[in-house]
Amino acid sequence: MSCIVVGVTGGIAAYKAVEIVRQLNLLGFQVKVIMTEHATRLVGPATFRAISGNPVALSLFEEEFGAMQHISLSHEADLIIVAPATANILAKMANGLADDLLSTTLLASRAPVLAAPAMNDYMYAHPATEANLKILKQRGVQIVGPGCGFLACGGKGEGRMAEPSEIVDAALEILGLYRKLDGVNVLVASGGTREPIDPVRFIGNRSSGKMGYALAEAAKGMGAEVLLISAPTTMEQPIGVERVMVETAEEMEKEVKTRAPHCKAIVMAAAVADFTPIEISGKKIKKLEKGGLYLELKHTPDILKELGENKPVGQILVGFAAETEDLLEHARQKLKGKNLDLIVANDVSREDSGFESDYNKAFLLFRDGREVELSLMPKRDLASLIWLEIAGLLERA
Ligand SMILES: Cc1cc2nc3c(=O)[nH]c(=O)nc-3n(C[C@H](O)[C@H](O)[C@H](O)COP(=O)(O)O)c2cc1C
Repeated sequence: MSCIVVGVTGGIAAYKAVEIVRQLNLLGFQVKVIMTEHATRLVGPATFRAISGNPVALSLFEEEFGAMQHISLSHEADLIIVAPATANILAKMANGLADDLLSTTLLASRAPVLAAPAMNDYMYAHPATEANLKILKQRGVQIVGPGCGFLACGGKGEGRMAEPSEIVDAALEILGLYRKLDGVNVLVASGGTREPIDPVRFIGNRSSGKMGYALAEAAKGMGAEVLLISAPTTMEQPIGVERVMVETAEEMEKEVKTRAPHCKAIVMAAAVADFTPIEISGKKIKKLEKGGLYLELKHTPDILKELGENKPVGQILVGFAAETEDLLEHARQKLKGKNLDLIVANDVSREDSGFESDYNKAFLLFRDGREVELSLMPKRDLASLIWLEIAGLLERA
């Protein structure tokens, strides 16, 4: 479900498509916008570019995007949304016309299509439009709206584009993500803890927090009430998610332990330090002329183990295993030893994934012995897959 292509056509509701793109972006989707020439007369491509964070595709013949943009976009898309869908694009789709970038991409794609018709009530009620919509529905194109209301051309009638949030919900429904975790309290622990040595130094690790934040965003997108307990990171707070910042393993333990009993699902994606200095110097330790610095370390609390030992009935507990060798063996031991329902195992020695990367290559190992190898994918896709599995486990719990 990584990439959603939004086709914006020349309807007065084109400005509302900005809000659709914004909402999809906030939900963590990669959004690519195609505008028809007429759409650009109503809203500037720069707006969509800024909101989607991607270049806007405008024409079949744009050298900078490669010679076959219609093919690359049609393959990339996991869903194509046409909003607003003018009477014109509906007619072109129904008849298989391919005379610009959007219509050609639609014809070349096998991704599901969601269209949000928007037009004057007479245009909507015209037998040609009616027939076109009938054909499209028969072919499996999903139609959302239109509604009845005030039209830009004046007066009231049927033809007003569905609201952006309705269109986004319909998209989530098609992708199988719609409110799968509706109202469920979930906890995500993320980031790498820091164990202080003195006021300026700490023992840290390479966790960026990207996986945990992707998990928090994906859960929010599926309707969950999300609590994100985060060790230091440069990631921005996801909208609609409650975030508690912590620094050390001990602080993480305290927050997680207090909040865990109220949650139906917990995903520990944080890289919690295993050791912490026994003594923290109150002053900055000076550089010595000779000899080294010896730190004595003690074990930090094993948060995942404690959660596993005190797991309430029906709660789903998920851990991560970031390993550099014997990945599956270590992950299986951790799954059992810590009483987890699911462990996400990833080899952090790979160069194309793991810490700091936007991608991850993982295995999912379940309590019932099921083991699934996933391909290399963006962390936000992995996050959605993990939550879909958790939603399934919650249903069966
Ligand atoms: C200001 C303005 C608003 C328009 N709004 C709509 C509309 O809401 N729905 C529609 O089907 N056509 C609308 N049109 C007509 C379309 O822009 C026209 O049919 C055009 O050919 C559509 O091209 P496209 O589908 O390639 O974007 C509007 C035209 C103008 C000038």
